[in-house]
Amino acid sequence: MKPYYKTELGELFCGDCLTIMKQFPDNHFDLTVTSPPYTTNLLKEKCKYAGKLLKTNTTNPESIRKRNSDKITKETKIKSNVWDFIVAGTNYGHPAIFPEKLANDHILSWSNENDLVLDCFLGSGTTAIACEKLNRRWVGTEISEKYCEIIKKRNDYK
Ligand SMILES: C[S@@+](CC[C@H](N)C(=O)[O-])C[C@H]1O[C@@H](n2cnc3c(N)ncnc32)[C@H](O)[C@@H]1O
Repeated sequence: MKPYYKTELGELFCGDCLTIMKQFPDNHFDLTVTSPPYTTNLLKEKCKYAGKLLKTNTTNPESIRKRNSDKITKETKIKSNVWDFIVAGTNYGHPAIFPEKLANDHILSWSNENDLVLDCFLGSGTTAIACEKLNRRWVGTEISEKYCEIIKKRNDYK
């Protein structure tokens, strides 16, 4: 199986992940970090405000959390199970990228240096970029040749 693109740490395969992944042995990867295409989930539910025009700029003053200025806040705390990330920023020409910090924090939490990380829906290559920076080996698959080119460019300019 010939990679579309390669770095010292990683390999990108351009094609359908279902075909490509079959070619790797069992227990080959240490961690998977991925985000599948959102359009493939066929389970639908009715939107709460379906068809209604929502008003913007309605701020309820009661809901603004009151701060206790007498307490000194701790420098650090354990990250909870719900992680917030800022999603604004460049999208490198891909419509649905996730923030690099999201990939970064998962990779740091769930893998060690030199581990092998899989992203079977690599998109614009965010997981690969985070792996390169954190010294993890990576394998990515991406079905769109247009996005494979973006991954290549993003890696070359990182
Ligand atoms: C939500 S995007 C991933 C975005 C990525 N996390 C990023 O930060 O750029 C999902 C990607 O999966 C790709 N894709 C869809 N079906 C695929 C398949 N069968 N095999 C490989 N890639 C696929 C799409 O082309 C799309 O780029």
